[in-house]
Amino acid sequence: MNAHASQYDTYKRLVERSLSGFVRERAPRSLYEPLKYVLDGGGKRIRPVLLLLSCEAVGGTPAKAVYAGTAIEILHNFTLVHDDIMDRAGSRRGRQTVHTKWDTNVAILVGDELLALAYRALLKTSSPNIQEIAKIFTEGVVEVCEGQAYDKEFETRSSVGVKDYILMIDKKTAKMVAVAAEIGALIGNGSRSSVLALRKYGEYVGRAFQIQDDLLDVIGNEQELGKAVGGDLVEGKKTFLLLEALRVARGRDKKTLVEIVKNNGGSRRLFSTYRRIYFETGAIDAARRRIEKDIRRAKRELHKLPKSRAQAMLAWFADMLLNRTY
Ligand code: IPE
Ligand code: IPE
Ligand code: MG
Ligand code: MG
Ligand code: MG
Repeated sequence: MNAHASQYDTYKRLVERSLSGFVRERAPRSLYEPLKYVLDGGGKRIRPVLLLLSCEAVGGTPAKAVYAGTAIEILHNFTLVHDDIMDRAGSRRGRQTVHTKWDTNVAILVGDELLALAYRALLKTSSPNIQEIAKIFTEGVVEVCEGQAYDKEFETRSSVGVKDYILMIDKKTAKMVAVAAEIGALIGNGSRSSVLALRKYGEYVGRAFQIQDDLLDVIGNEQELGKAVGGDLVEGKKTFLLLEALRVARGRDKKTLVEIVKNNGGSRRLFSTYRRIYFETGAIDAARRRIEKDIRRAKRELHKLPKSRAQAMLAWFADMLLNRTY
């Protein structure tokens, strides 16, 4: 493992320890059993690691950012539990989703409680900037909801453009990644320009991250990914790939895609056809190019920060996300 990967692991473990000790309640069991199942389920923990790194990159003490990191990870888990209900997803992180292992009511309530617990963790942060931090966090949650609403609206809307798509993913995914970076920098008492650079870094990385997520839903390996591929096809998601393929496809392939859009999704049997069309229209390559572009933009923001180990690691972190397979 290289030095960056091992540092990532150290920060990840710091967050995991905080997460596992954070919820002390046990009853009612119908709430806390599934809730702990979610928090113990692993995941990459990219948002809290980014938060700690951003704190370090402005000269702060990462240990002071652990509660905020815990908060952002709990919040992320809340969005996943509700997202899986909305997307009718059966698996996540290699295990059954909460609403399939228990039921939808349980998953709704677990999500609600996770949102409250996220605030409980955030408010443990000791910083003169706590009011601003809480405001940024709250606006992040609002945008995730707006992004998720667009995501659902677009399932039944045939005229979605790339611009609409970018707005949707900026809200549902990129915003919270940017919030993680910004809050870390604020806890570290970073200068205005460093805070801004880290927020922008988070926005670009977050956008690339969601396009990559769309890509992995087509070319990823289920085992590695821990979730079923092809879900976006079945649910009628307007992904970057679909929009790009719709623009380029001709003849029978175009008809197939238009049919999927008209039916607000397609049958799982169509998956290999849909995948082939994405390769043949160049949609896969276009997504890769778009991801690379946003990662380059993200890394450019890092030049505005003082040189440090954390700054170098943020460049590595962006590349690591670009090359991820899960
Ligand atoms: C999945 O997030 C949802 C998206 C925003 C694409 P992650 O890919 O960060 O999920 P975990 O936490 O690592 O499982
Ligand atoms: C998830 O996007 C975004 C949020 C959870 C806010 P997806 O629906 O694409 O994420 P996965 O693929 O289920 O992880
Ligand atoms: Mg979704
Ligand atoms: Mg989903
Ligand atoms: Mg997805």
